[in-house]
Amino acid sequence: MLLKTKNLMKAFGGLKAIDKVDFELPAGEIRGIIGPNGSGKSTFFNLVSGVYDPDPGSYIEFDGHDITNEPPHKIGALGLSRTFQLLRLYQDMSVINNVMSGYHTRVKYKFLDAVIGRKKIWDQEKEIKDEMMELLSFVGLADYAELNASELSGGQRRLLVLARAIAMKPKLLMLDEPAAGLSPVNVDNLMKIIMQLKDKYGLTLIIIEHILKVVMDTCNTVTVLDHGQKIAEGTPNQVKDDNAVIEAYLGKKMNDEEMRKALAV
Ligand SMILES: Nc1ncnc2c1ncn2[C@@H]1O[C@H](COP(=O)(O)OP(=O)(O)O)[C@@H](O)[C@H]1O
Ligand SMILES: [Mg+2]
Repeated sequence: MLLKTKNLMKAFGGLKAIDKVDFELPAGEIRGIIGPNGSGKSTFFNLVSGVYDPDPGSYIEFDGHDITNEPPHKIGALGLSRTFQLLRLYQDMSVINNVMSGYHTRVKYKFLDAVIGRKKIWDQEKEIKDEMMELLSFVGLADYAELNASELSGGQRRLLVLARAIAMKPKLLMLDEPAAGLSPVNVDNLMKIIMQLKDKYGLTLIIIEHILKVVMDTCNTVTVLDHGQKIAEGTPNQVKDDNAVIEAYLGKKMNDEEMRKALAV
């Protein structure tokens, strides 16, 4: 398993945001995590990526390493990259430098710079920049490389966040609502690019998404959270037909026709 949690727990005061979650993700999979607002999806990411410390008794393993109490930069250096629900870009930095910052986040911790000469660093920087430009053209932002991130449209910023996360060359990429706020056309475009990037870079992916259709179309397996607990897991079709999921997610039972409508949001 690339990622594994056992008895994962996190309480905020009396609120169990994540409640005894066992989770296993094999390499190569695209996993969807769905659940109503406040069900613990973002908290799950925050625990796995080290932003929050889990409660005692929890266990998290990534790529064979016990990362239960490791800080974010160590987990990042092991090859786990994530995006945040609210975009975090360097607004006054150029598009290309935002992407370069993703690359350096990963490499900094390898202490490479200390052991190679200045000329080599320069050559290496140029090589990295070429590689990052290729990544930018892949997501369709090459023409905007020298603009400030603040000058991009909402959809372009989502693509930049994605490019920066991939610049870290992760083994696992976790996306928190990557399509939030996008128009349907932009959502389709973004998902197409995510799928292509997955193949090109051999990524394993976890996607948190509230647009159910996106998860249904693209994920191999879907994990459903409700009140911090894992209430279902299976193929998109299995999950969509699960009564507990329908009740938790949509608040009421629905017939097939209503369900189809809800999933086509
Ligand atoms: N830092 C925090 N402090 C207090 N409560 C939090 C914190 N982060 C999340 N929560 C609470 O934990 C629950 C799960 O939140 P979250 O993981 O953001 O849900 P989701 O991403 O599924 O919408 C919510 O009730 C939320 O208010
Ligand atoms: Mg969230």
